[in-house]
Amino acid sequence: MLRRCGWFICLGALLLAACGAEAPPDRARLEAQRPADARLAGLYERSCLLCHARPESGAPLTGHAAAWAPRLARGMDALLASSRQGLGAMPAMGLCADCSDADLRALIEFMSKGDHTP
Ligand code: HEC
Repeated sequence: MLRRCGWFICLGALLLAACGAEAPPDRARLEAQRPADARLAGLYERSCLLCHARPESGAPLTGHAAAWAPRLARGMDALLASSRQGLGAMPAMGLCADCSDADLRALIEFMSKGDHTP
C-alpha cells in the first residue's frame, strides 16, 4: 500500500514537472528590463544582463525581489564587496571593469527591486 502511494506521488511530481516545463518562461519580460538612466542601462546591457536576466545562470534574477531579499539582508556593502571580488560563478566586477562603486550600487538596487517571478 505504502509503495503504491509512493509511486503515485512520484507520478504526480512528474506530471507537475512536465506542466511546469510546458509553461514558457517569461524571458522577453526578463530580458527587456533596463535601468531608467541610459548610461547605466548601457553598463547593465553588456555585463549584469548576461547572467542576471538568464535563469540558467544561477544568478538572482533582475526584478525578482524575493530572490534578492536574503542577500540584501546582509547589507549593500556586502553585496558591493562580492560584486567587486566576484562570487561563485560571478566574475569580479560582474564583467563591468569600468563600473564605479556608485554604478555597482545603482545596478544592484535596480536588479533587486520588482515582482518579476521567472
Ligand atoms: C557571468 C555571470 C554574471 C554576471 C555577468 C554578473 N553576475 Fe552577479 N551573480 C552571478 C551569479 C551566478 C550570482 C550568484 C552567486 C552565488 O551566490 O554563488 C550572482 C550574484 C550577484 C550578487 C549577490 C552577491 C551576494 O553577495 O549575495 C550581486 C550583488 C551581483 N551578482 C551583482 C552583479 C552586478 C552589479 C553585475 C553587473 C555589473 C553582475 N552581478 C554581473 C552571475 C553574474
